[in-house]
Amino acid sequence: MARSTFVGLVQDRAPDRACSDGGRDGHRSCDRGRASRRARLAAGRHARRAEDAGADRDIPRCNDETDQFEFSVHKQPQLNNAREHAWRERLKPYYTEFGIDPAAPVPSSNRTPFDVALCAAVEEIKPEVVSFHYGLPEAALLKRVKDAGCVVISSATTVAEARWLEANSCDVLIAQGYEAGGHRGMFLTDNLATQVGTFALVPQIVDVVKLPVIAAGGVTDARGIAAALALGASGAQLGTAYLFCPESKILAPHRAALKAARDDGTVLTNVMTGRPARGFINRVMRELGPINDIAPEFPLAAGALAPLHAKAQAQGTGDFSSMWAGQAASLGRELPARELTAKLADEAQALMRRMAV
Ligand SMILES: Cc1cc2nc3c(=O)[nH]c(=O)nc-3n(C[C@H](O)[C@H](O)[C@H](O)COP(=O)(O)O)c2cc1C
Repeated sequence: MARSTFVGLVQDRAPDRACSDGGRDGHRSCDRGRASRRARLAAGRHARRAEDAGADRDIPRCNDETDQFEFSVHKQPQLNNAREHAWRERLKPYYTEFGIDPAAPVPSSNRTPFDVALCAAVEEIKPEVVSFHYGLPEAALLKRVKDAGCVVISSATTVAEARWLEANSCDVLIAQGYEAGGHRGMFLTDNLATQVGTFALVPQIVDVVKLPVIAAGGVTDARGIAAALALGASGAQLGTAYLFCPESKILAPHRAALKAARDDGTVLTNVMTGRPARGFINRVMRELGPINDIAPEFPLAAGALAPLHAKAQAQGTGDFSSMWAGQAASLGRELPARELTAKLADEAQALMRRMAV
């Protein structure tokens, strides 16, 4: 179980839509009787619920805390010895280069998808928000999460996925565009070539679903937030922008890559974990990828890379490390998370006011 490490700035432009579920305390704070806009901050171990806006402010100050947990619902990978072997053979020259025994056991990179035990933990803790990556859990588990009063969020990378999530009882959608850093949330397709950019995806999803839509992917500053809202989103989720914060626990090469970020500095790759994800281009992506069919199924590919990651990190490079980032990383600012969020909200509102004139 992971607490969310992402920050979402959510603006409810249509309270009757955005807050359609009675829910627990946090969600009930979306009082339909008030047309004010609200911001939701979900950073690190905490998510903060917004207080109602004053008459003179559209986006309120965040003043309390709540939890958001995030789970993966990926299919357990099928072990495929031939593929694992081929992957290790392919990595062998790097092992030799770093003086690592190629026959040494590698750590298991398996991750537990959401299951009965994790569901029981959710029922006990009752976080305000539970978000899932790669679809939704099976209906019985999802019902238990919802019965615990949690608001359920998941990502769609296509209109078809958005329709599917709505039909399967998701409460809030993240429209994750091609620009987004990190793993792609795609789950009904594995065709990377047809993945959609945020600018095209958000309005097309907004037009066909009734659920509130949060735009994600390439939103790093106030201009992106204003654009997301103009496209019909109820809010924006910023991932890469918050990697810059001093609170972020990224390693030194990742931080250096952020500081040097350019528009064309990232790529979608499957070699780091076995699943497409966007990150800064490094040596292993350049030499073996960015997409390689022999990379074992998610998340197994990461296991054999782990010793190389450790050695390379010790030498100060991210040559074998996942350094996730989106295409708009160069717009990031190194500010404490709270300050960044307040600035983004203020700047987005100022920008929207200017545009309204
Ligand atoms: C370092 C990093 C790790 C991520 N890991 C996850 C994840 O585990 N689950 C998830 O739903 N999204 C993950 N994402 C994607 C974000 O939720 C979001 O879609 C993305 O960051 C938005 O695009 P942006 O990075 O351009 O702001 C990750 C993003 C980053 C930057």
